[in-house]
Amino acid sequence: MSESSDFVTLTAGNTSLVLNCAVGARPCILYWGEKLVQSDPALLLRMTSRQHAPGSADAEVESSLLNETGAGVSGSPGFSAHRNGTAWASFFRVTEVRQSDTNRVEIVCEDKTTKVRATHLIGVDPGSSVMTCQTEIENIGTDGLAIDWCASGNLPLDPRAKHLFGFTGRWSGEFQLEEVAPFLGSYVRENKSGRTSHDKFPGLVLGAAETNEQAGPCFAFHLGWSGNSRVRVDRLSDGRAFVQMGEYFFPGELSLAPGETYRTPCLFAGFASRGFSALSRKFHHHLKHTIMDDRIQRKPRPIHYNTWEAVYFDHASDKLFKLAEKAAEVGAERYILDDGWFGARRNDKAGLGDWWPSEDVYPEGLGPLIKHVTSLGMEFGLWFEPEMVNPDSELFRKHPDWILQAEGVEQVPFRGQYVLDLTRPEVSEYLFVHLHKLLSDHDISYVKWDMNRDVHHPGSRGRPAISRQTRALYALIDRVRTAHPDLEIESCSSGGGRADYGILQRTDRIWTSDSNDALDRQSIQRGASHFFPLEIMGAHVGPETCHITGRRLKMEMRVATALFGHMGMELNLLSESQDNLNILKAGIALHKQHRALIHGGDYYRLDTPGHVNAVGVVAPDQSEALVSWCNVTGHNETLPGRIYVPGLDRSKSYRTKIAWPKKVRSVSRPSVLEALSLNEEGTVLPGEALEHVGLQVPLLHPETCLIYHFEAI
Ligand code: GLA
Repeated sequence: MSESSDFVTLTAGNTSLVLNCAVGARPCILYWGEKLVQSDPALLLRMTSRQHAPGSADAEVESSLLNETGAGVSGSPGFSAHRNGTAWASFFRVTEVRQSDTNRVEIVCEDKTTKVRATHLIGVDPGSSVMTCQTEIENIGTDGLAIDWCASGNLPLDPRAKHLFGFTGRWSGEFQLEEVAPFLGSYVRENKSGRTSHDKFPGLVLGAAETNEQAGPCFAFHLGWSGNSRVRVDRLSDGRAFVQMGEYFFPGELSLAPGETYRTPCLFAGFASRGFSALSRKFHHHLKHTIMDDRIQRKPRPIHYNTWEAVYFDHASDKLFKLAEKAAEVGAERYILDDGWFGARRNDKAGLGDWWPSEDVYPEGLGPLIKHVTSLGMEFGLWFEPEMVNPDSELFRKHPDWILQAEGVEQVPFRGQYVLDLTRPEVSEYLFVHLHKLLSDHDISYVKWDMNRDVHHPGSRGRPAISRQTRALYALIDRVRTAHPDLEIESCSSGGGRADYGILQRTDRIWTSDSNDALDRQSIQRGASHFFPLEIMGAHVGPETCHITGRRLKMEMRVATALFGHMGMELNLLSESQDNLNILKAGIALHKQHRALIHGGDYYRLDTPGHVNAVGVVAPDQSEALVSWCNVTGHNETLPGRIYVPGLDRSKSYRTKIAWPKKVRSVSRPSVLEALSLNEEGTVLPGEALEHVGLQVPLLHPETCLIYHFEAI
């Protein structure tokens, strides 16, 4: 341990985390934020000392890393458990502190009365400065311990972080940020959908009143977990505020036998003193370099062609073959055969669970199509929804008891399918065997792993089991990955319903949303970017008329939106006009040209008026940048404003051009397009002027997206 034995300071990057964890006392976070180099923790303790306030306890009840029930803190406890209604008031004191290096510590606490051990596993990542926090609970008593709630940690919130943004959304409209006005009391989101959810993504972003994308202090929290969750922020009337995140348990779901342990999912926390975009970059770095497997870093992310919106369940083979040819022609590098290829899956009412090629549509199996795709120079990917079964399937007819259910309760109907009970070893074994066979028999390098319903009654053999189900899912994916080390997996759940750092530890990208409507995607992708980098966000060029919103958008707009992500397409290329195919092909070529920058650059969201969404990527060495400026709805003023480009080197000048669309026309001429030859060779502009003076945007129709390229000279 560093300093005096009462304190531990973890330092990484520009961050310091100071913990007060004297043996015999209650552990708490004394400070978390900008790196401190000469501040003695004992002095910090004195600087932040509080006092008795009339009308309250004689001495203020101190907070701790769990604010467990027995502590008596007036806010919501972070740990709540009992033994048949007794031993309910746990009160943890530190018994041991283990610190192997300067950025990780394990703080062991015990309550001798209720016989519970709580170990806090805390780290600050040296690369990203993101803090990780987990709690492990051990039942050191002689009878069963029922745990109602255990937060991954109870983290004190910086008093400046008054402005809270939570995540709302819905199917085809994920990752919508919602600002919550400053409050006293509690902000609580409970996700009981059995997946990360479309509407309650377990993430929070907080800032001070003055914080914007490029300046001001801010904080963000995310629970890396794909099952049920609870997110809460409690602001006490004494001025203190805490963030807790953890698994949401159904009644009786978690019970530990003597000697058993439970470990919470990991809570990721980050802070930045220079704006929300800087904070996102820390999370992106953490996800890419600490959480995700590096298999995806080994080669550029291939352009996808996905068959779903082109064929739905119509798997006529000649169409699929022709689509492959057209896809290769416009630049696709991977072809993904979506839903509809297996069992009796001629519509969405049958077949889930029967993971073998449908004899009706693939009499010779998948081999000929896969061969055709790979001979065109593309990789082949295949859609699965392993956790599900349709009542109309061979699997269900044989094993009707293999599903999650609650005794005496009807299933809530949801896309005509039930959820398999993965906690039963024979179920997970069945799924592994079938996936393994297909992946071994064919040249399949990619799996789109889908999950298309909420889980309302996650009962297994009489007890709620979504916590165990989520762990069993992780174990199944891990087993598939181990057996097929080069396989890449996409996490899809009716779009972005299962996107989190838990699933991304074992998958390679998310299907951000089922909405391929480029206007919807502008806000969905912007919201998701708070925690997810562009390269893992599946972004497809959809059909001219979006099948979900009915909106018609030009190909240029659709391309511009998909270009800022892991690009792909999902439209019927056989019915597109040659003009549109040419535009698409040019857009794909542009993505490939700048792919290393888009997927490897530093990401920025820009502060803009409400009708605009602007985001950008800047090369780590500031040698070039791409900025996407989308006029989403049109503006109130006669002319649009200027674009202020962040992240450039102020001492350098940049050749500035419009990279997309290939030829932009302003509504009236001449405009800045002509003044700076932005459609042609561009003009060299000082980085400092691009950042501080700004660049006038030409007058454009709504639903237009420009991509600017800046290249240092
Ligand atoms: C989900 C996915 C879609 C598609 C369909 C197929 O909705 O999100 O992309 O794969 O299932 O049924």
